[in-house]
Amino acid sequence: MQTLTLLVVALTIAGGAAALGGNTNNVYSPCSDTRIQRSDGFTFGIAFSSRASFFLNQTVLLSPCDRRLTLAAMNSQLSIFRPKIDEISLLSINTSAFFPDNYGGYMVAFAGRKYAARSPPAFIANSTYTVTSFTLVMEFQKGRLQNLFWKRDGCASCKGNSNFVCLNKQDCAIRTPSCKGRGGTVDCSLGIQLAFSGTDKHLAVLNSWYEVENMKQYSLYGLYSNLKSSLTSQFNNFF
Ligand SMILES: *[C@@H]1O[C@H](CO)[C@@H](O)[C@H](O)[C@H]1NC(C)=O
Ligand SMILES: *[C@@H]1O[C@H](CO)[C@@H](O)[C@H](O)[C@H]1NC(C)=O
Ligand SMILES: *[C@@H]1O[C@H](CO)[C@@H](O)[C@H](O)[C@H]1NC(C)=O
Repeated sequence: MQTLTLLVVALTIAGGAAALGGNTNNVYSPCSDTRIQRSDGFTFGIAFSSRASFFLNQTVLLSPCDRRLTLAAMNSQLSIFRPKIDEISLLSINTSAFFPDNYGGYMVAFAGRKYAARSPPAFIANSTYTVTSFTLVMEFQKGRLQNLFWKRDGCASCKGNSNFVCLNKQDCAIRTPSCKGRGGTVDCSLGIQLAFSGTDKHLAVLNSWYEVENMKQYSLYGLYSNLKSSLTSQFNNFF
């Protein structure tokens, strides 16, 4: 798998749970198991490839950490993030030089090995449409990641906006030829909003999920649009 340099931007907007202590999680590989508490950083990966490449024998959805998938030998890209637990973060992936449709157009979020969790593949882009906004929910039980899933709003955030098309009654998409670098002028960078649910290893409840639910009527992307802080990270082979 090639290394991908991505622009990762994360900003905290949930002020309530002001950091009561620092990181205690020293697991930095997305393919290792860990248990977290609030205030920890948590490392997970997102793999970009074709939908079929995430399945073994076209039937069993495996974690990209599972060597049986041979994702590394396929046309794929990997990106690693380390958000802080229970803080609402927006991950931003700059697509000015990275066209997801060149890598199959789908993504899977994942973490863990023995306790491997992976999201269903999410459609990002083909030559016709590009989806730019996602919400990823990370569900923990006693600090162990159990589940990763994409939360859809049924196109509520783009209703009435003629720049968008509603795909499959779930995703707001831009026409790919409207994107910068593809003949158009729209910045089609990917925004992935994170939300945490469940409990940490001390059974403290993770709340950011409820805050996202309450804010759904606002476009979070708008809130982040004038981000000042950014971080460019390059990661190497985790497999
Ligand atoms: C996948 O297919 C191969 C060859 O057809 C077979 O040997 C193997 O048992 C299959 N694995 C699963 C998990 O179905
Ligand atoms: C993406 O990268 C390009 C080139 O480095 C830069 O001009 C552009 O401002 C970046 N976009 C965002 C949203 O950061
Ligand atoms: C792109 O994806 C959309 C939605 O899944 C589909 O309707 C369309 O046919 C696809 N276009 C191409 C060129 O594959």
